[in-house]
Amino acid sequence: MRAILTTSVAVAAVIGLSACGFGEEGITISESEPEYKGAQLFSANCSGCHTLSAAGAEGTGNQSARVQGPNLDELEETEKSALFAIQNGGFSGAVMPQNIVVGDEAAEVAGFVAKYSGSEAGDE
Ligand code: HEC
Repeated sequence: MRAILTTSVAVAAVIGLSACGFGEEGITISESEPEYKGAQLFSANCSGCHTLSAAGAEGTGNQSARVQGPNLDELEETEKSALFAIQNGGFSGAVMPQNIVVGDEAAEVAGFVAKYSGSEAGDE
């Protein structure tokens, strides 16, 4: 029984590995997490401006760039605040584009951000 389990896990890992390959290498959460899709979407759509290590995102790497968004490792977002930011282009509406992701995808990104943001904020 154990041998069979181990084999199927290994097979799943191989399939998982071959399925990705576009900038998702930095994602640190497991593909079996419900938030994995959100992490992929974050990596594809938000990582240019925001740091969030669970998605392997490091922003522009230049904290003084005008488009640089807040470091989400240091801010604790709720699903509501993340969704608000996505729909309204941040809280000020000045720099972050609105509705980069919409509908189900926006909800998935918001769920991911809510769960994994604030890892360096202090009180987890
Ligand atoms: C072009 C750069 C850019 C992109 C792309 C971008 N953001 Fe932002 N974001 C910003 C900036 C700048 C701010 C801060 C100003 C503001 O709140 O209006 C911000 C603010 C936020 C905030 C609020 C942070 C806080 O608590 O103050 C959240 C949450 C957020 N972004 C999430 C996202 C998500 C999720 C995505 C991808 C769907 C994304 N951002 C894509 C630049 C960007």
